[in-house]
Amino acid sequence: MINQTPTSPAPQFSDDFTWGVATSAYQIEGAAAVDGRGPSIWDTFTHTDGKIIDGSNGDDACDHYHRYAEDVENLVTLNVNAYRFSVSWSRVQPDGYGAWNEKGFDFYSRLLDKLAEKNIAAHLTLYHWDLPQGLQDQGGWLNRETASHFAAYAAEIARRFGSRLASIATHNEPWCTANLGYGNGQFAPGVIDPVAALQVSHHLLLSHGLAMTAMRALNTPAKLGIVLNQWTAVPATDSPADVAEAKWEYARSVQWFMDPIFKGAYPQLALDRMDQGLFTVLENDLSIIHQPLDFLGVNYYVRAFVSTDNPPKKPEGKLGFTDMGWEIYPQGLSDLLLALHQEYQEFNLPPIYITENGMASADKVEDAKIDDQIRIDYLRRHLAAVAFAIEQGVDIRGYFYWSLMDNFEWNSGYAKRFGLIYVDYDTQQRTMKESAFWYRDFIDAQRRP
Ligand code: FCB
Repeated sequence: MINQTPTSPAPQFSDDFTWGVATSAYQIEGAAAVDGRGPSIWDTFTHTDGKIIDGSNGDDACDHYHRYAEDVENLVTLNVNAYRFSVSWSRVQPDGYGAWNEKGFDFYSRLLDKLAEKNIAAHLTLYHWDLPQGLQDQGGWLNRETASHFAAYAAEIARRFGSRLASIATHNEPWCTANLGYGNGQFAPGVIDPVAALQVSHHLLLSHGLAMTAMRALNTPAKLGIVLNQWTAVPATDSPADVAEAKWEYARSVQWFMDPIFKGAYPQLALDRMDQGLFTVLENDLSIIHQPLDFLGVNYYVRAFVSTDNPPKKPEGKLGFTDMGWEIYPQGLSDLLLALHQEYQEFNLPPIYITENGMASADKVEDAKIDDQIRIDYLRRHLAAVAFAIEQGVDIRGYFYWSLMDNFEWNSGYAKRFGLIYVDYDTQQRTMKESAFWYRDFIDAQRRP
């Protein structure tokens, strides 16, 4: 593992660097049963007792469905030139197969118009975890057919919107869909079955490949890729057992998705540690998955600190921990980017976008101000890490902070605030945090000659 510290305290990025913020449909839109939207697995999951820490759900969320114009105005205030969002599949195709819902497409069309009017590039994600319940009823991602339905949905979005989009990502963080949705059951659909998680991870990759093929066939002008959550795996000690455990962790989480896409094979190290009879891979699957991408989206939050101890050793956390309990470790971002570059450059690694990076803090409004200095420090350090990786030769084209505004943080409900903008959920009032002003000014400074 490359182990270097970012040096540049006030980095300068190129003029054409993409500056953005990210959101996802279920976390912000609300309007769960409006204009013909069908239910998704997250509607079902959040309405099941005991699944969400504060008992909340995304029925209303940030009411972005009705307030999107105000939210786009806020993007303008933030100075960003790009916005990453996802489409709620069940809003545009209520069952996940069969009839399309024109009113659902109309919403995204209005959003795209508004973004275009403000000169903000639209980066669309097809799947940010909210599978239509109609497909879950047929087995969800355990059913291979879901991959074909996904490809049809991808083609429909590309056909309708491709010319208005800067990029389309197939999946957001398939690791989470597989391991949290089917492995430990923390996320929808709440299945606890590690073997199922393995099969799901393969079907997700297959669906990515099928969707890429379908969208390429349309010659869509949007750049096509995928968004993966990734981390370096750092052994807690230099004992051979911890070192081996860290390699295994990296293989089963990062390389598990990267290798099929870029090398056309699952990582041998991971396969060696698992019973291969447990999951089904058909003959041509890997060649479907293995095709060139226009970009890779990297989401980085935290490193994996790995030991064989039970309970595992905790990192010292010199820079502290976020409100999620995640270690603040900016060096992990540059280490990761350099490791990806080193391993996959010869396998057609495309330009990288940091499609998510951010932190939750227990923000409070005091005298109409949200003084989140900790987030400013986080941003400053992580941007320095990105700049360092660029200096070292990694082709990184953009950075999206997670998130535009506080929103429904999955099984943590509304208790965790990741936004640059504070949301009062009683009134839906949005207030810029100090970090929002900092990001605005930072971006502005990049554009000065
Ligand atoms: C990522 C998700 C995003 C958000 C952040 C905090 O894993 O993609 O929706 O929940 O974590």
